[in-house]
Amino acid sequence: MSTKQFDVIVIGAGPGGYIAAIRAAQLGFSVACIDKWKNEKGEPAPGGTCTNVGCIPSKALLQSSEHYEHAAHSFADHGIGLSNLSMDVKKMLSRKDTVVKQNNDGILYLFKKNKISFFSARAAFKAAVAGGYEVTAGDEVLQGKQVIVATGSNARALPGAPFDEVNVLSNNGALALGAVPKKLGLIGSGVIGLEMGSVWRRLGAEVTVLEALPTFLGAVDEQIAKEALKCFTKQGLKINLGVKVGEVKNTEAGVSVAYTDAKGQAQTLDVDKLIVSIGRVPNTDGLNAEAVGLKLDERGCILVDDQCRTNLPGVWAVGDVVRGPMLAHKAEEEGVAVAERMAGQHGHVNFNTIPWVIYTSPEIAWVGETEQQLKARGAAYKAGTFPFLANGRARALGDTTGMVKFLADAKTDEILGVHIVGPMASELISEAVVAMEFKASSEDIARICHAHPSLSEATKEAALAVDKRTLNF
Ligand code: FAD
Ligand code: NAI
Repeated sequence: MSTKQFDVIVIGAGPGGYIAAIRAAQLGFSVACIDKWKNEKGEPAPGGTCTNVGCIPSKALLQSSEHYEHAAHSFADHGIGLSNLSMDVKKMLSRKDTVVKQNNDGILYLFKKNKISFFSARAAFKAAVAGGYEVTAGDEVLQGKQVIVATGSNARALPGAPFDEVNVLSNNGALALGAVPKKLGLIGSGVIGLEMGSVWRRLGAEVTVLEALPTFLGAVDEQIAKEALKCFTKQGLKINLGVKVGEVKNTEAGVSVAYTDAKGQAQTLDVDKLIVSIGRVPNTDGLNAEAVGLKLDERGCILVDDQCRTNLPGVWAVGDVVRGPMLAHKAEEEGVAVAERMAGQHGHVNFNTIPWVIYTSPEIAWVGETEQQLKARGAAYKAGTFPFLANGRARALGDTTGMVKFLADAKTDEILGVHIVGPMASELISEAVVAMEFKASSEDIARICHAHPSLSEATKEAALAVDKRTLNF
């Protein structure tokens, strides 16, 4: 069989890989993209974790469960009465699957549109050859002048408790539960724990979270995390901090988790299903990195410099398989930057302005430094907050939880961080990201006309609050 030649071979079609492939094709390279993911019907399912078992399906279920919660608890406030409210979990799951499939098909369409050769197969390095690398795609051998590795990550299991996806669930199983468990346990109160816990709590599960750290959401601004914890606890999530998880046993009824609580007392949590969301590990299994001498770091990530170059000439790596936050938009930005660098351009990723969002209700979103980080580095800063309680649009929406918080340099007024807990925080954070990219001051935002009534007025007011001159509070 003849070897197919390409300028660029991309391994993995998650947000890092498929976006890198598109940008490389736009720049005139001949591109192959190889991905092994298949759906339940055995059809190619490009899009990676994000599309298949991550961002997209989780947001689809968050939306369905939020509609249900509103119908059950908030519609009455709006004068809307419902009788015989019912829930069809199977329908929710099939809607989610449809949304996923639309995204898979969208990527296949984009590959065609950009003349990218897509191989639905497992890829592995075969050898370094003159002028590039040989990479296998199933039974085929491809040769590329340059290679981008974007093989992503998968869920970390608890030692001694492998995922069976029946009782002990990773994100894969957590997004596919056929019925609402009566009692749901979650290990880890990170992003997945809170999002998945919210979905199943809204649908009626009694949710208990066991978190090892004594602080809740340690990477989030303390004031925002405190407010969020208050809201989640009020909603019914039982969040236990500072625990030490011990043995996890399958029982007849489900799963039993032995743990030591924050006071050092031995406890047992008996649940029908257990989701383990304690972080993710990079995917390099089966890649045959050794064949070409591709170096990994001590955590198993592909070792890259700040430009995503590996130790091998012409081999790059992006996304969850390398250092940095495990976020789809970070992977995409790296993919674009690498394609541009391959073309001799100056692609750049600004790690200081990558937004974070947790899609709970209220949503949590932030960009830049937290107040505790500023304190730790001894920065002179000013803070301003504005509560949604004092925002007209939030009142009209019936969702006045939370606040917007600005942190600005005490001397120059440059925005150092913006932190939001509240309605549509995921959308509101974009303004802060743009402002920080342009090195805006809080006064810049305070002087910009914001539509009324809108949630974004809370952003403007928080910027005004930095100078202690809010108008509506
Ligand atoms: P991946 O998306 O993991 O894609 C890697 C691809 O490579 C996969 O398709 C895999 O099958 C393929 N692959 C691996 N090895 C090989 C091989 N040897 N041969 C061929 N193919 C291979 N991030 C956000 O920004 N926002 C969110 O809302 C969000 N929600 C999430 C919710 C959940 C439940 C989870 C688990 C994650 C979420 N994330 C979210 C994180 C996001 O999914 C990842 O950061 C993102 O998918 C990383 O992209 P990637 O391209 O690096 O890797
Ligand atoms: P995470 O890193 O967000 O949270 C893991 C939590 O588990 C931490 O709080 C940690 O202290 C705790 N933990 C670790 N070991 C433990 C143990 N043995 N016992 C109890 N607690 C333990 O990881 P998570 O939630 O698995 O998500 C993985 C990644 O996926 C995230 O880092 C994020 O980048 C990405 N993601 C992003 C989303 C978004 O952008 N909205 C949504 C979901 C995931």
